[in-house]
Amino acid sequence: MVDLSTVFTGLRFENPFLLASAPPTESEHNILRAYEAGWGGVVTKTIGLHPVVNVAGPKTKFIRADNSGTRVSMLKRPDTTLMASWNWELISDKPMDWWLPRIASIKRTWPDRILVASIMAGSGSDKELANWQTLVGGVQDAGADAIELNFSCPHMDRVDMGANVGKDPVLCSVSTQAVKAVAKVPVWVKLTPATANIVEEAEATFRGGADAIVSSNTFPSIPPFDPDTLDPEVNVDGYVSSGGMGGPAILPLSLAKMAQMTQAFPDREFSGIGGISTFEHALSYFLLGCGTVQVATAAMLDHAIGPNVIRNLTEGLAAFLKRNADRGWTSLEDFRGLRRDRIVAQSAIRRPDAAGYHGGYEEDAEGYAAPDLAKV
Ligand SMILES: Cc1cc2nc3c(=O)[nH]c(=O)nc-3n(C[C@H](O)[C@H](O)[C@H](O)COP(=O)(O)O)c2cc1C
Repeated sequence: MVDLSTVFTGLRFENPFLLASAPPTESEHNILRAYEAGWGGVVTKTIGLHPVVNVAGPKTKFIRADNSGTRVSMLKRPDTTLMASWNWELISDKPMDWWLPRIASIKRTWPDRILVASIMAGSGSDKELANWQTLVGGVQDAGADAIELNFSCPHMDRVDMGANVGKDPVLCSVSTQAVKAVAKVPVWVKLTPATANIVEEAEATFRGGADAIVSSNTFPSIPPFDPDTLDPEVNVDGYVSSGGMGGPAILPLSLAKMAQMTQAFPDREFSGIGGISTFEHALSYFLLGCGTVQVATAAMLDHAIGPNVIRNLTEGLAAFLKRNADRGWTSLEDFRGLRRDRIVAQSAIRRPDAAGYHGGYEEDAEGYAAPDLAKV
């Protein structure tokens, strides 16, 4: 018998697959549809206290590469493969008093499914730290099972918000501590991948009392320029700001961040995000030690909430457990973290033996191109 359920930060999940904080989770209707489709949990679109007004233009686009050539562009065209999402959408534009009754109503309808409230405030003053606490009080009283702190939105101008918190270990620690002082439910922290050594921010965040770390949010990026108009492919009046890239292209980038953290803190809990659309993608995060994973871009592209994605994930996990039944595996816990030790220093990787190594005087072609190809 296989068991898809799991326990993460003390909460029981029907399965370890969650919808990440993004458009699929910005309304009560979508969240209810997500549970019906089978998601084990949902993280709401980030809720804040400051007024939110998005740009006067498209908020999200998808980057596609030609199958036969090299063009990378957001233009919709045939014979392309989707590489990534790109967005400069802000957090939820719905205020807290819109969200609270909806959180309560969702929990009444689905009491056994996990609802995580993503929240964001500033960190630069006592007033801002009190804002975190106001948000925590609101969402936990409404019935949220856990709270996710957004220290990772990549397009915030304020120096004490979003990814600017996640880039500063002191702010990571102080803001987490302020939340933990009033939180009665588990506190997850979503860190930005845009730092030199994420282990430092993770350490500070755990020191502040975080129960789990979530990674990655989107990676800072700008759209390519259109070769005819010479404008960025996404723009308002010709201008664009840095936004965030998600989807298939970030899977290896996000795995690298996760590997650093799960090795540094093998006994801590992690939720993996970035480029997941199938069970095989999720498996990489599980093998590094993650206890849950989250999905945004793939769900947006699949009927807005990912009914086919969640079916692939749960069926994939069940089939994987059955395939490995002879190893005695019945649940995620039996293989979680199994390959964490396979990421090592470059110098620890085996070199060719003496017979195959000629000190740089090998007889192969120079560089990567075969000599005859180089002439073409
Ligand atoms: C349009 C869009 C809006 C997003 N909004 C939020 C948000 O409000 N809060 C948050 O923590 N992450 C937000 N994210 C980031 C996602 O939750 C996720 O971390 C990221 O997209 C990487 O996952 P993916 O590769 O599955 O897309 C957003 C992503 C997208 C594409």
